[in-house]
Amino acid sequence: MEAANKLSTIAKTFKPSPIQELSHLAQSCNAINLAEGFPDFPAPLHLKNAAISAIHSDFNQYRHVQGVCDYLAKIVNEKHNLDVNPQTDVAICCGQTEAFAAAVFAIIDKDDEVILFDPCFETYEACITMAGGVPVYVALDPPHWTLNPETLKRSFTEKTKAIVLNSPHNPTGKVFTKAELEVIAGECCSRDCLAITDEVYEYVTFDNNKHTSLASLSGMKDRTIITSSLSKSFSVTGWRVGWAIAPHLIASAIKNIHVKITDSAPAPFQEAALTALTTPPEYFELLQKDYESKRDYMVKLLEGVGFQIAFKPQGSFFLFAELPEDFPFTDMEFVKKMIEKVGVVAVPGRGFFHANMYLEKLCEVDYKYQNRYIRFAFCKSDQTLASAAQRLGSIKF
Ligand SMILES: Cc1ncc(COP(=O)(O)O)c(C=O)c1O
Repeated sequence: MEAANKLSTIAKTFKPSPIQELSHLAQSCNAINLAEGFPDFPAPLHLKNAAISAIHSDFNQYRHVQGVCDYLAKIVNEKHNLDVNPQTDVAICCGQTEAFAAAVFAIIDKDDEVILFDPCFETYEACITMAGGVPVYVALDPPHWTLNPETLKRSFTEKTKAIVLNSPHNPTGKVFTKAELEVIAGECCSRDCLAITDEVYEYVTFDNNKHTSLASLSGMKDRTIITSSLSKSFSVTGWRVGWAIAPHLIASAIKNIHVKITDSAPAPFQEAALTALTTPPEYFELLQKDYESKRDYMVKLLEGVGFQIAFKPQGSFFLFAELPEDFPFTDMEFVKKMIEKVGVVAVPGRGFFHANMYLEKLCEVDYKYQNRYIRFAFCKSDQTLASAAQRLGSIKF
């Protein structure tokens, strides 16, 4: 049997991402991993104890922990001034990733257009195309990744069904401004369009930047699906507890899809989520402070090496560093060299850009910058960052 002939059309369209291609090389060179967005330091002890206790208490079966929905509703209602009903408007999923996929399957039909900002976290497009939807990219303008309201307005058509907003943003570390959120909300309302937000970095913002949920803007609470998770706020990306919060008809569709795909998120970790979601505010203050000092360390380190850092991350735990203008290598070539010569791996920026011919023509965007960025993750222990600094110190541009 020729297995390749048996693959579905959609499966054939997916290729390994640049990061997957490089990870084998990185492993063979024992490289320090500044590529992937997961912390390499321990999760909070009180959370681990809660998970251990849940396992000892035999929470081993399929499970829906309503208390998680109750706490989430309380948090978002207080924080974003919403009126989420915990009984009907919250779906617990396996991480933001499943929440996002279920949200897309709940609202996207064949040929529906979905607006995304470019550069963009990679998984959104796959979900949209699997649902038969069409991703339409709106380029954010470098070096500060600003949103041009005119570009956004021109991207809507009568087929636009939804817009995806990730703030704080992976890969750039941008936190969308209030003015930008207002433009997005205004367009969603006047075009009668839905929004799916990805707020996994909601607690990781720096300087005076604050996270605002798009759902809290005028006219948006009935047209926004909030997705988020425990992964980044509590350094537990492997626990797979996330959620979607949406108007009840949509939330109910998401729940139905979630049950069909995975049935339920891991039971002991849902129990531990009850502890996470009642964590006192001091935890989040410390989290921000820690990440802010890691960000400052990385900015200084990479500037010292010769990268151009025109945009200091305002949130998330990624730094999108630009290669010097006259540097003869592309992002891909440079990352290969960085792995082989100094033993540090990061992600070539090109994987986050999605050249969209239609849009390129429409907006006359210059896409040449797309192979000039490298994404460094700084969600790593001080020890890891110091070892990376030692190795990167030997690079000369
Ligand atoms: C923007 C963004 N959204 C979602 C995720 C994945 O979240 P989860 O672990 O909850 O599926 C990541 C992980 O890197 C991310 O960067």
